[in-house]
Amino acid sequence: MSKSVLIYKSFERFWHWMQALLIFFLAATGFEIHGTYSFFGFENAVTYHNIAAYAFIILIIFAVFWHFTTGEWKQYIPTFTHIKAQLNYYLFGIFKNASHPTKKSVLSKLNPLQKLVYFGLKILVIPVMVISGLLYMFYRYPQNQTVASINIDSLEIIAIVHTAGAILLAAFIVTHLYLITTGTTATSNLKAMLTGYEEIEHDDEIEHDEEETEKENSKTLSSKI
Ligand code: HEM
Repeated sequence: MSKSVLIYKSFERFWHWMQALLIFFLAATGFEIHGTYSFFGFENAVTYHNIAAYAFIILIIFAVFWHFTTGEWKQYIPTFTHIKAQLNYYLFGIFKNASHPTKKSVLSKLNPLQKLVYFGLKILVIPVMVISGLLYMFYRYPQNQTVASINIDSLEIIAIVHTAGAILLAAFIVTHLYLITTGTTATSNLKAMLTGYEEIEHDDEIEHDEEETEKENSKTLSSKI
């Protein structure tokens, strides 16, 4: 039996789509600045990239606040349990119509691979992009040549780090777009992020199982103490 469950709350959907839009726009303007192609013109690309960067930083501040006040940050704690099963599914099982190795629920909406990748993005790639981007800005504009207070006297390392992060994010976007189509149906994941709701199999049982496991764990723990 399946039922329609609210998986993604309204702020979460707003944050997800704004982030998608901004990262896409930052990549588009960033690679023009890099010299990969010409569309807006270099000067415009720089102006637009800076505006989008500030909007992205504001969005990040709200998102961090939301993740901590709602406790949703816990969804992203990486786990290595079932990670092999999840990898096997994406590499082989998916082509043989195998069932998903992990089930989505309100309490656990990300599979182990998503947890790991999103955690890496949140604590490593995005902060690196923001910090290297800000260093790039402040290297260029106020001091005009150096960020003297932290001994940065060349743009080279900052540019390499920022560009490498941008390539990583572009690779993530491509993979993400493919993986979106691998839900219960080809559009179920996309629909869930648009409407918030998804048809979940046996959600009650999963939540019940998780409660039971938690109870068992605390029993084992207290008997050990
Ligand atoms: C808050 C976040 C960010 C800030 C503050 C920022 C800032 C900057 C700045 C100041 C530049 C140099 C512009 C110039 O030459 O005048 C730049 C370049 C660039 N940015 Fe960003 N950026 C951010 C996020 C991103 C993201 C998310 C991406 C890609 C997904 C990206 C991709 C690029 C690329 C490819 C370049 C050209 C690098 C080069 O060729 O050296 N940026 N960014």
